[in-house]
Amino acid sequence: MAYKTLTKAILVAGMTLGAVSGVSAADAKLMMGASPAMLANNCQGCHGTDGASVGPASPTIAGLSKDYFIEVMEGFASGDVYSTIMGRIAKGYDKKELEQLAEHYAALPFVKAVQPFDPAKVKKGAKLHDRYCEKCHAKGGQSAEDDAGVLAGQWVQYTQWQMDDFRTGHRTAPKKMTKKVKKLLSKEGTAGTDALLNYYASQQK
Ligand code: HEC
Ligand code: HEC
Repeated sequence: MAYKTLTKAILVAGMTLGAVSGVSAADAKLMMGASPAMLANNCQGCHGTDGASVGPASPTIAGLSKDYFIEVMEGFASGDVYSTIMGRIAKGYDKKELEQLAEHYAALPFVKAVQPFDPAKVKKGAKLHDRYCEKCHAKGGQSAEDDAGVLAGQWVQYTQWQMDDFRTGHRTAPKKMTKKVKKLLSKEGTAGTDALLNYYASQQK
């Protein structure tokens, strides 16, 4: 809510300025709606400039597909997707604003995080990814086109939390993914997830 209020405050300031400097009706109309870049200002503190997060607690959101972005934001707002923070934030935007935000971020490049990983686990992780995940998270987890988020180069701590949430039922994965994750865990245990995460973290270019 506070975010919407902030956006409104900026708009009001803009409109007052318009009245003072005597801008045209067309200019005034432009100021009535927040531009996508203005909406995105409210996200920078945690998701970095242009959606490339600089810390492990907030995921990078640049380059996510438009459909996935809207789906996950709506999931946060409804509570279907578990969140610590985003539920409150996502509620402050209507459908049109979510679409604007989604388009804004989808057009920006996903910047892979530079983070530590264990090189000894990468090969096994790549193999497990091919077997259990590649079908829906293509190109080693780099592709956003599957509308399933981006795994390669995402901050590992965030991805680890999502895997924990899927496992405990906090977040619901698609049925077929749940099946694959269960199979992975029964065959490989948590060492399997660990290898996967190291593989995703190793993709830095
Ligand atoms: C105070 C920090 C903070 C702010 C501000 C914030 N986010 Fe987030 N965001 C998070 C965190 C943390 C998560 C992980 C989910 C959670 O626990 O809330 C997240 C998750 C997300 C995701 C899911 C990414 C994925 O791969 O599934 C999207 C999309 C997102 N945020 C978009 C936004 C947008 C758009 C804004 C601005 C309107 C925004 N966030 C503002 C902290 C923040
Ligand atoms: C049958 C397709 C499918 C398979 C197989 C699959 N996933 Fe997913 N995955 C999805 C979809 C779809 C989503 C988006 C979930 C949503 O709607 O919230 C997703 C989301 C995720 C997310 C959350 C991404 C984010 O940005 O928050 C992670 C992490 C993840 N999958 C990991 C995996 C791993 C690891 C494997 C292999 C063990 C796997 N998935 C296998 C379809 C799949």
